[in-house]
Amino acid sequence: MNPTAESATHNTPLGEEKQGEVYLAERKEEFAKRYYIESYGCAMNFADTEIVASILTKEGYGPTEEMDGADLLLINTCSIREKAEDTVRKRLKIFNKAKRANKGAMIGVLGCMAERLKSKFLEEEKLVDIVVGPDAYRDIPSLIAGAEHGNKGVNVLLSREETYADISPVRLDSNGVSAFISIMRGCDNMCSFCVVPFTRGRERSRDLYSIVAEATELWEQGYKEVTLLGQNVDSYKWENPETKEVVSFAQLLVHVAKVNPKLRVRFSTSHPKDIDDEVMFAIRDHHNICNYIHLPIQSGNSRILKLMNRTYDREWYMDKVKRIYEVIPDCAISSDIITGFCSETEEEHQDTLSIIEWAKYTMSYMFYYSERPGTLAARKYPDDIDLKTKKRRLQEVVDLQLEMSHQHNLNDIGKTFEVLVEGTSKKSDQDYKGRNSQNKMIIFPKVEGIKIGDYVMVKVGDTTKATLKGKIVSV
Ligand code: 5AD
Ligand code: SF4
Repeated sequence: MNPTAESATHNTPLGEEKQGEVYLAERKEEFAKRYYIESYGCAMNFADTEIVASILTKEGYGPTEEMDGADLLLINTCSIREKAEDTVRKRLKIFNKAKRANKGAMIGVLGCMAERLKSKFLEEEKLVDIVVGPDAYRDIPSLIAGAEHGNKGVNVLLSREETYADISPVRLDSNGVSAFISIMRGCDNMCSFCVVPFTRGRERSRDLYSIVAEATELWEQGYKEVTLLGQNVDSYKWENPETKEVVSFAQLLVHVAKVNPKLRVRFSTSHPKDIDDEVMFAIRDHHNICNYIHLPIQSGNSRILKLMNRTYDREWYMDKVKRIYEVIPDCAISSDIITGFCSETEEEHQDTLSIIEWAKYTMSYMFYYSERPGTLAARKYPDDIDLKTKKRRLQEVVDLQLEMSHQHNLNDIGKTFEVLVEGTSKKSDQDYKGRNSQNKMIIFPKVEGIKIGDYVMVKVGDTTKATLKGKIVSV
């Protein structure tokens, strides 16, 4: 039997895709062709890879974890910092070796770097066959067909509508417990350092019902946690075309939380300017909406924030954090931080350090500034902080955050948390790992009868700098 679209004949788009997943699991050896895919960058990119996998499944492609023998070698790329692009270039050299060994194989570059470099990719990296931007994945089959006839193909058209709402992702590398759901695409914010608005286009929100259907399907498949993804989830806004009713992010959160009280709901990323009381109330009032907000500050200094075009200043951000702790006292907050942005002084850098301490972040993603071609900052401000200073400031930020995370963990000793069992600990097969509502990882000894996907109550007894350790006290 040919495992292609014809054999997947369910009447709803979601059902149809699910059938594709069954093929992946049960008929691995029967796929006529193989694709090998690597993903880089943010969670959104990994979620996109699962959409691409779904599209390829319908075309008769099955996944392989080996480059050897693959008919299609794909790389889903990130452009956010120069380093990310350097990594992709290195991987492409390795892909090219595999291509020479696999007669007739093709290489495809997907995602943000494809969008940024467009047809330049075909000129610069001679052995790339197809270049596909984040809104053009539906076109992959025809681009492959074209390339098979010697026509190298590029589709980097950005869309104002595409949300891939009807495509149910094929869950790759899944632990069977947690999954991502993409709820919107693009970004309208224009932070001056950021290339995302150029590579992922204008912001658009996905149909509420398709999101709830995806969450329901995941629950029925045994998943216990979904993370709603978008560049700026708090500005989710979807108008029902029939009733004209406008659904906000807070309302979406509640709809997803109601799929089942045992389905944990997380979300990322929140922009401080858009997260509002309604979202906080939704978290407070629903046990299964996790008490965790990723709220990037980027810099703790108001002048730098203005140059970054973040639209808030230090005080405004602090008021937002105060409000979160007021409404949800045990909420964990994490951040993204950039050091050495254009013209940043030592005193301004100190403002970033002090806010890390003040906000009590449980963790942060920390970077030194990397100028990206075409961004507002690249056009307007000289990249004038030398690399050594950028890196030294970054190290100071990292050291302080590690200390703050440790402090936070020490405060958890003696507390009991509800933990979702996510898997076996990497360090010991006698231990499970799982996270609490605040997104902190806890390691605890396995107990008979408890399996992956269960909820257990774990009392914290100890902590390392990064990880809590505890014991199951009840289930
Ligand atoms: N340089 C360094 N870090 C950046 N980020 C985005 N653009 C840049 C850049 N040009 C960081 C921001 C953002 C995270 C996803 O990546 O902190 O929140
Ligand atoms: Fe980039 Fe700012 Fe949009 Fe985040 S909110 S993707 S940092 S422009």
